[in-house]
Amino acid sequence: MATQEELKRAVAQAALKFVRPGQVLGVGTGSTVDLFIDALAAAKIDVPAAVSSSERSSQRLAGCGIRTLDLNDVDTLPVYVDGADEIDPGFSMIKGGGAALTREKIVAAVATTFVCIADASKRVDVLGRFPLPVEVIPMARAYVIRELARLGGQPKWRVGVVTDNGNVIIDVHGLRITDPVTLEARINAIVGVVTNGLFAARGADVLLLGTAEGVKELRRP
Ligand code: A5P
Repeated sequence: MATQEELKRAVAQAALKFVRPGQVLGVGTGSTVDLFIDALAAAKIDVPAAVSSSERSSQRLAGCGIRTLDLNDVDTLPVYVDGADEIDPGFSMIKGGGAALTREKIVAAVATTFVCIADASKRVDVLGRFPLPVEVIPMARAYVIRELARLGGQPKWRVGVVTDNGNVIIDVHGLRITDPVTLEARINAIVGVVTNGLFAARGADVLLLGTAEGVKELRRP
């Protein structure tokens, strides 16, 4: 039986076939993406540069000799590779377990194709068992917590965590998200919210799912 680490390594390796030689690549954040960056470096594919979604990934890319570009200096991004905390049958996701959700969502918005790399534990029928991260301007923290509580979940401040953008994270526990597009927009409309970890309006296009039977390549239905 493959371990979760082995499944992550397998999907990281499988994602290499989506990398376009000679083109700038969008790179997400997390333990699965760390393995993808390592695989990318080992494969010696001609990637002129990457746009990174976090300081963590930028550092790892630099350690592998891959330079990073400011997103503002890039017009198009053919491919973005990133992990997920949960992904549902419609390829909507919860992301942000690593607190990088805002930059991830911005890079994903620019990318033509979002390739999600995930081990089988991330695949769920309904999103919400994983607490939904929300990035919030610090002075709005208490207000946003009160507003999020009105949506039915239990919001909890992720104490001690400051995002790359200098903001705080509130994790909403106990949600059962049957309409992710609507909830994503509703939470983003709360004043003080920078963005939330639902990637539904712009979900994944391709899912590389690491299973005991091997890596499954699935397309958005
Ligand atoms: C980072 O903020 C997240 O969105 C990650 O993409 C997500 O948490 C997946 O991380 P792992 O690959 O570590 O599970």
